[in-house]
Amino acid sequence: MSSPTQLTAWQALAQHQQDMASVHMTELFADDATRAKSFKTSAAGWTLDYSKNRANTDTIKLLLQLVEQAGMKPAIEGMFNGEPINNTENRSVLHVALRASKAQETLMVDGVNVLDEVRSTLKQMETFVSQLHSGKWRGYSDKKITDVVSIGIGGSYLGPKVVAEALTPYKHDDIDVHFVANIDGSDITDKLKRLNAETTVFIVSSKSFGTLETLHNANAARAWCLDQGVPETDIKKHFAAVSSNVEKAVNFGMAEENIFPMWDWVGGRYSLWSAIGLPIAVAVGMDHFYELLDGAHAMDKHFETAPFDQNLPVIMGALGVWYSNFHNAQTHALIPYDHYLRAMPAHIQQLDMESNGKANLVDGSGVATDTGPIIWGGAGTNGQHAYHQLLHQGTRLVPVDFIAPLKTHNPVADHHAQLFANCVSQAQALMVGKSLEQAKQELRDAGASETQVEEIAPHKVIPGNRPSNTLLTEQLTPFTTGSLIALYEHRTFVQGTIWGINSFDQWGVELGKVLGTDIYNRLVNETDNQQLDASTQALIMAFKDAQ
Ligand code: F6P
Repeated sequence: MSSPTQLTAWQALAQHQQDMASVHMTELFADDATRAKSFKTSAAGWTLDYSKNRANTDTIKLLLQLVEQAGMKPAIEGMFNGEPINNTENRSVLHVALRASKAQETLMVDGVNVLDEVRSTLKQMETFVSQLHSGKWRGYSDKKITDVVSIGIGGSYLGPKVVAEALTPYKHDDIDVHFVANIDGSDITDKLKRLNAETTVFIVSSKSFGTLETLHNANAARAWCLDQGVPETDIKKHFAAVSSNVEKAVNFGMAEENIFPMWDWVGGRYSLWSAIGLPIAVAVGMDHFYELLDGAHAMDKHFETAPFDQNLPVIMGALGVWYSNFHNAQTHALIPYDHYLRAMPAHIQQLDMESNGKANLVDGSGVATDTGPIIWGGAGTNGQHAYHQLLHQGTRLVPVDFIAPLKTHNPVADHHAQLFANCVSQAQALMVGKSLEQAKQELRDAGASETQVEEIAPHKVIPGNRPSNTLLTEQLTPFTTGSLIALYEHRTFVQGTIWGINSFDQWGVELGKVLGTDIYNRLVNETDNQQLDASTQALIMAFKDAQ
């Protein structure tokens, strides 16, 4: 695997970046009357307007050459065919199989038709969800279940939480779904405070069933149930689990009939489409869960088959590389103008940063380029009164994705038009900016003296030429939520493929787990800490002294 810097398209882009350095986006619009139309593409319920980028048709041409030269076509085929593209763990990467169309009958991995497993798990989920919703599933005291608490962390938490929140308008009336992730006891304490064990079911989601936080919280939930009067023999009426390690789940005390399978070929951060998504299905019903899968499948099909110049994940991925590697952009912001998508940046942050925060090429040699940027963001308009200042006038270039539905689920007076107007005007302001002359004129119009004009005007200049994409959909539905998240999954893969890294392992996170255990042992036991650095020793002592 060689570095992408060796590719001719990479070198051409480096030269092209210099040619484009002094070009303002407003000039690109002035020079091309068709730009708004030609820098636009649609798929699976979303339209991407990428016209507000520092890119002309030559830029896009070169970026697509880079995509081709980086081997995107075989990479996509390899993923969809179940090749072990996660080379450090020798695993296939088949989240796309979890949402495969019903027409597809087989997808073989190691001699097993994974689609059979996927479909039988979906049936198992259907039974569980309908039993909960119909009231057939009862707690130990024969009461109907009113609350489901999902316990998990990382990919076994964020995706389901974010999607369940995104689909709030589709929520089932009778059951509330809650999420606990943090090992901080305050998380589970606060969640359980208002719940009654008689009417509560816990879903413990852990692919490995070995994750510290999840096992601690599951133990706490179990102790709470027993404390609240659930007899030991009836504990299984209050617990279900999702895991690829059935043996560990059983050893933990889960009843085998309440364990939903997961597979090695699904990465944690790509797993909301599996039984890890059970809390979503409980929250919105299985029909909506199937619509979510359909939306993701529609984006999969688009990614697999659309020409690259119309391919949303490819275009967004390539533009991300353009800014990360040719404009030194260190971060990328996601700003959904939709209250229900307010937590989405956190999910995409995990998805992208755990996937592409890598410094080695697939063959193990070091990268010669920057890889995954820092992903961050939050809901508009709230961010406009906080970090947008830096987007407009800061020294750093931050490419932004604006995400907005055209229709709201909650019409309140003119709120939605105001919300949408803010989304559009932020993208416009980032691009157009405000010149010194405009700033001066504004001040003069407001009656400022010439001394004030000279003093204040420079502070009001907004350079503009700051890039953004705008993603629009008719309405946020299970289908469009599914396709949106799948879009970002594939965008992540596109970038990982260009950089030549493995987007599907996470060895950096594993190290943190090991070190955490060592320090924990030092906190609770008498240990000789002399060989540790002085700062770590002092922090350990601070904790011990406070107990
Ligand atoms: O945080 C690291 C990680 O390994 C994630 O990739 C994963 O989603 C999460 O931990 C939880 O793991 P598990 O589902 O095995 O409990």
